[in-house]
Amino acid sequence: MLSSCCRIPALLALLVQCLALLTVMLLWQIGTYLAFYPSLSMTLGAAVIMQGSIAALYSRWFKLAPWWWLFQCLLPIALFATLTLHLPAYLYLAGFILLLLGYSPAFRTQVPYFPSSRATWQSLRLYLPADRRFKLIDIGSGTGGLLLNLAAHYPDGEFLGVELAPLICLVSRLRARMRRSRANFVHADYRDVDFSRYDVVFAYLSPAAMPALWQKARHEMRPGALLLSNEFEIPSQPADAVIHEAGMRAPLFVWNM
Ligand SMILES: C[S@@+](CC[C@H](N)C(=O)[O-])C[C@H]1O[C@@H](n2cnc3c(N)ncnc32)[C@H](O)[C@@H]1O
Repeated sequence: MLSSCCRIPALLALLVQCLALLTVMLLWQIGTYLAFYPSLSMTLGAAVIMQGSIAALYSRWFKLAPWWWLFQCLLPIALFATLTLHLPAYLYLAGFILLLLGYSPAFRTQVPYFPSSRATWQSLRLYLPADRRFKLIDIGSGTGGLLLNLAAHYPDGEFLGVELAPLICLVSRLRARMRRSRANFVHADYRDVDFSRYDVVFAYLSPAAMPALWQKARHEMRPGALLLSNEFEIPSQPADAVIHEAGMRAPLFVWNM
């Protein structure tokens, strides 16, 4: 049970919240026992803030990715706030469905949605040919910002985004339609896409996805094609180039296939 929790970050995060709750309850008991309780004035609100802070610390300790630390800290506080606001029940259902459509694939793939930065898009442009046709695929294209930007700069480029989360994919398609962009977005799993049809494969996934991505790229990509990964390296496969320009939140790794 514990080992499967450690492999699935969402389960580990839940375990961490439970541990944090036990810690808060213990501290509360100790505070009461030592008669500090009145002076500490441990209200429910204070306990919730303590729960979030301890959960963030434990998340770091259990080596969850940094974005989990903030999430774990805010989760109990947000829950407490929404419960005290007495919102109607259907709002919770609507929120749950939206989150499910947007983030449910992340439970399986361990790749949540977060967009790459404009600085990364600009650096990526250094690698795209300005004078000839090329095909680029963004595997896990999110809400489409990268491809919409590139399509506006490269009239000779063909741009396809594949996205597993239905709601996020719908957002990218609507954005493309509103901007009359040439970029196309499909709701699909990139693991089912044949990479041999593309000159450039761009990925912004997660460390967990990189070993399998490399195997797929190695088997399918044509010689001379480029594999680019934002932020995440491939274990035991040093990149041919690493770009980390000012303003970029993370490096961009490049492999010449
Ligand atoms: C970190 S976001 C990157 C978004 C976008 N590429 C960008 O640079 O802004 C990763 C996206 O990949 C999607 N994703 C994860 N696994 C996928 C898969 N197997 N097939 C297609 N999309 C996937 C996630 O739903 C998420 O939206």
